Amino acid sequence: MTMSVDEALRERRSVRAYLDRGVPEDLIRQMIEAATFAPSAKNDQQWRFTVLTGASKLKFTTLYRSELDKLDYDVGSSYGSCQMMEKVPVVIIVWNTNERGWSTEAHSVAAAIQNLLLKAHSLGLGTCWIGDVFYTYEAIMKHFRKPWKLLAAITVGWPRIVPKLKPRLSVDQVTEFLS
Ligand SMILES: Cc1cc2nc3c(=O)[nH]c(=O)nc-3n(C[C@H](O)[C@H](O)[C@H](O)COP(=O)(O)O)c2cc1C
Repeated sequence: MTMSVDEALRERRSVRAYLDRGVPEDLIRQMIEAATFAPSAKNDQQWRFTVLTGASKLKFTTLYRSELDKLDYDVGSSYGSCQMMEKVPVVIIVWNTNERGWSTEAHSVAAAIQNLLLKAHSLGLGTCWIGDVFYTYEAIMKHFRKPWKLLAAITVGWPRIVPKLKPRLSVDQVTEFLS
């Protein structure tokens, strides 16, 4: 069964509680394929993905937690995000190749992430975009040794709790129509 774009847009949520059940690789591939249909600056397709499960995910979350422990300032929701990544079956690290050094290259990758989240939702999967990884940016870069820039982490799993829609600003609150 396919889901309409409108349904996917309206029903997707950031899911932070997951079932203890793995996600088949085929579904992850479908999500990443959806990501690759995003528009990108100069069609350079600046997105790259590292899919973590099992031991590689454990190594990553262990590093993330120990790096957070070293910080002596407020790390916001980072420990919550860390716990989520520890419990979820799959974490996808998203990279920006940024070969041209343009800020618009990050925009391409953000568009790809949104495609990925919507496709996941249409497959019945839950996701959460994690920006808290930026608190330990340097350590993560050192861990993976990629020639790219970290852009986000995404949790992927079967939803245990689906949150209600968070309030949105209205069209009139966010728009001016000029003529
Ligand atoms: C750039 C970005 C960074 C985010 N970082 C985090 C994060 O680190 N931890 C988290 O729990 N949620 C994170 N989120 C999810 C937002 O909190 C969530 O999208 C927002 O509250 C709206 O809720 P919704 O996605 O259910 O509509 C992030 C979302 C975006 C777009």
